[in-house]
Amino acid sequence: MTQTADSANDRSPQAVLEDAFSRFAPDRIAISFSGAEDVVLIDMAAQLVDELQVFSLDTGRLHPETYTFIEQVREHYGVDIEVLMPDPEEVNEMVRKKGLFSFYRDGHQECCAIRKIQPLRKKLATLDAWITGQRRDQSVTRTEVPQWQDDQAFGTAERPLVKVNPLAGWSSAQVWQYIRNEQVPYNPLHDRGFLSIGCEPCTRAVGPHEHERAGRWWWEEATRKECGLHAENLAAETQSVRIIE
Ligand code: ADX
Ligand code: SF4
Repeated sequence: MTQTADSANDRSPQAVLEDAFSRFAPDRIAISFSGAEDVVLIDMAAQLVDELQVFSLDTGRLHPETYTFIEQVREHYGVDIEVLMPDPEEVNEMVRKKGLFSFYRDGHQECCAIRKIQPLRKKLATLDAWITGQRRDQSVTRTEVPQWQDDQAFGTAERPLVKVNPLAGWSSAQVWQYIRNEQVPYNPLHDRGFLSIGCEPCTRAVGPHEHERAGRWWWEEATRKECGLHAENLAAETQSVRIIE
């Protein structure tokens, strides 16, 4: 069945997760964890399955608060979190040639490719499906994100990969209502004006009525604010999706 991403077709995040865990073996599906949305997914998933695979991309440039938060989530849910790190040789080469802050001069793509995308690609090669906390109202680049999609950025015809976005139709307010109601742990930076949190040098707090991702790569255009984890969003204007039956 093929249809355009549309909130009228959305199911509850819990129903999507239940479906996802029934389709894929526990060692072939994982939650990609970094922020508030992802802990909501971990909280929901922990109520559905005993075996939960979670990974997080440690770029080496995260806030100290984020490392503490990752540890807090590990302890709170009693879940193993695989912390994926970049290839030190590649990081060394980039830093030796261009310094520690090259992204301010020539954009974040190169650094994100080394610190995030390559470790992610390696991890995804071991999976059939990954679960992310993307939401449609997060960004102009995400308005067409469906709950289920064939991941054409990291999957291939020979080795298809499914990307599951259970919270695609949720607003930020719904996420935070869940966090408060269920007393889900969250990154303390949120209480200091950070809405969307990435790496420390590429994230800043936002002011009243600024967009939630205005503090991410603030020196770049809103339409370019994808680091490659969700690269397909940049070409997604008219994307049509296959709902896996
Ligand atoms: S990003 O591409 O701009 O960094 P964003 O912070 O909005 O992404 O998060 C969207 C989703 O991408 C998260 O809900 C999570 O599933 C995944 N994600 C983002 N950053 C990481 C990370 N460092 N490690 C693992 N997953 C991540
Ligand atoms: Fe590098 Fe910034 Fe991308 Fe982090 S967000 S990997 S520091 S460019």
